[in-house]
Amino acid sequence: MSFLIQLENISKIYQRGETQFHALSNIHLQIKAGEMTAIVGASGSGKSTLMNIMGLLDRASAGEYYFAGQNVANLSDNQWAQLRNRQIGFVFQLFYLLPRATALQNTLLPLFYRGLPRNQAVEQAKSMLERVGVAHLAAHYPHQLSGGQQQRVAIARALVGKPQLILADEPTGALDSVTSQEVMNVFRELCHEKGVTVVIITHDAAISAACQRVVTIKDGKIF
Ligand SMILES: Nc1ncnc2c1ncn2[C@@H]1O[C@H](COP(=O)(O)OP(=O)(O)O)[C@@H](O)[C@H]1O
Ligand SMILES: [Mg+2]
Repeated sequence: MSFLIQLENISKIYQRGETQFHALSNIHLQIKAGEMTAIVGASGSGKSTLMNIMGLLDRASAGEYYFAGQNVANLSDNQWAQLRNRQIGFVFQLFYLLPRATALQNTLLPLFYRGLPRNQAVEQAKSMLERVGVAHLAAHYPHQLSGGQQQRVAIARALVGKPQLILADEPTGALDSVTSQEVMNVFRELCHEKGVTVVIITHDAAISAACQRVVTIKDGKIF
């Protein structure tokens, strides 16, 4: 069985003045390619710390992380950036769309950074907006969109570069329950139809119930 994510004995220690704080302790976690996993836990339990490590936004203090079978400790900073840019799509609670860019411009940004020719980038961004059901809003600015529509655009942006992995940190945290379920349906379709590996961090039981697998984290440990 091939794992996209393999965490072995991962720990994260934050220095707080004189004292050390163990945000993650001896985490073992394996996630198969194409799986849809929820990571649940109370506020402060270490969910975002774990996501930052899985997303190559931060380094663990100890332990090994294998991404697609490759030990990330053996990769250069440049290779980390490449993996992050090409293989991982991020979705956040507050969407983080650029306010002065349209839905289409926001969506094609990752392709622009890759140096894709503009007409190709526009084509791919349009088809991704279509995929998440907001193609008709391509010319709208974020402030003209509802929360659910903004999150769909953010998902389109996360997916436009065809990453293997989507990491979503409380993606429905700012949405009402009906809109949350719609956004979850988008993730589920991507997972089932496109084989994208999806990891959703949440403290909402209704969201985790929609995932194939639920991993519980408490005080920096997995149960
Ligand atoms: N940069 C940091 N420096 C010190 N402590 C941190 C830092 N980031 C997070 N923490 C602490 O680590 C713990 C886990 O945080 P976090 O991963 O954000 O939890 P969650 O996402 O589950 O709410 C919390 O106690 C938080 O205060
Ligand atoms: Mg968090």
